[in-house]
Formats: sequence, structure tokens, C-alpha cells
Amino acid sequence: MSTIEPELREELQRIAADPALFCKGFFDLKPTQYQTAFLRDTSKRIVLRWNRQSGKSTFLAVRALYQAICHRKTLTIIIGPSLRQSMITRDKIEDLINMIPPDVRRKIFRRILRTVIVTWHDSRIVALPNSEHLLRGYTADLIVCDESAFFDNDHTRQRDISGDRETQGIRFQPGVSGFIVI
Ligand SMILES: Nc1ncnc2c1ncn2[C@@H]1O[C@H](COP(=O)(O)OP(=O)(O)OP(=O)(O)O)[C@@H](O)[C@H]1O
Ligand SMILES: [Mg+2]
Repeated sequence: MSTIEPELREELQRIAADPALFCKGFFDLKPTQYQTAFLRDTSKRIVLRWNRQSGKSTFLAVRALYQAICHRKTLTIIIGPSLRQSMITRDKIEDLINMIPPDVRRKIFRRILRTVIVTWHDSRIVALPNSEHLLRGYTADLIVCDESAFFDNDHTRQRDISGDRETQGIRFQPGVSGFIVI
């Protein structure tokens, strides 16, 4: 089997129209106003500059899962300053997955491994460190950068690309979407 059952697929198509609806439908999580605005923001590149402990990593995780669950054959890459750091975000993804009833979870996910999560409709979420050698070779649909202020090299980061002196800019290939937490 390399697809999601037709009945569930129809439900996913309905819910895919609104990531906030997706969040409420799948997870035991009530987004605040600013979290809802982020979920519904259709901009190609988004930089989150929220307070400490305001849900940045959690809602990056929600959007990574929205991408993987509601869009078939997509690749989402999670990048942190180190593998350990990107695993923290990846673990938030697994916490969310564990909120999905087991029977539904089994119909969506083919494999949930340490650094790779794969759905039955061939979407993947891969957690990687910000390393020139380890990031090479992927063609991503979505890139999620958490804690980018602590990236210590320029493989994905470049100052001032956004025109904002205080913002760390991230370079993306054309066509790739991205969310950045600084
Ligand atoms: N809408 C929400 N409902 C319930 N809990 C929430 C909500 N938003 C965030 N939280 C909880 O708040 C805590 C902090 O979330 P998270 O780690 O995502 O924040 P953060 O902004 O990434 O923090 P940091 O600044 O330390 O990186 C977590 O326990 C998370 O589950
Ligand atoms: Mg965080």
C-alpha cells in the first residue's frame, strides 16, 4: 500500500483547506490568536519572532505535520543548529502524532523513525543539523528552521537578506517554502 485509504483521504482533503481546522481536528491543542494567524498565513516565507515559550517549536511542528499529512509526496526538512536541537523539534512532532487516535495514526504513518517520519502517501519529514554536508542533496517542499539565531555557519543563513538588520535571513532555493524561528 502506498496511499491513504480513500475515506480518510477525503476527510484530509476537506480539512486541508484550513490548517487551523487541521490543528483542532487532529491535536489536543487550542491555538491562540497569534498561533492561528501563523497557521493560516499563506506567505511563502515566514519568520517567527515570538516570546520565549510562546509555542514557536510546537506550531512549526503542527505546520510540518500539516504539510506531510495533507499533501502527498512532499518533503519537509527540519533544521536546527545541531542534530540534537532539530531532534527537539522532531520530538514535538512525535508528541503531536501521539495525540492522534492509534487507529487513525496507523492509517496515516508508514514509519516513525528517529530522524525520518514517512506517511503512507509518501510524504516525509526529515530532521537534520545545519551542516553543509548533511543538507546537500535534498529537494524540499518546506524547510523549517528552529533556533536559527544559533546557526554558527552560513549554509542556510545569511544576514540581512530580508532587508532587516536585526533579522537573520535564510536562503532558499526558488519554489521552496520556509518558516524560520530566530
Ligand atoms: N496553544 C497551546 N496550547 C497548549 N499548550 C501550548 C500552546 N502553545 C504552546 N504550548 C505549550 O507551551 C510550551 C512551550 O512551547 P514551545 O516549546 O513550542 O515554545 P517555544 O516558543 O518554541 O519555546 P522556546 O522559546 O524555549 O524555544 C510547551 O509545553 C507547549 O506544549
Ligand atoms: Mg522552541
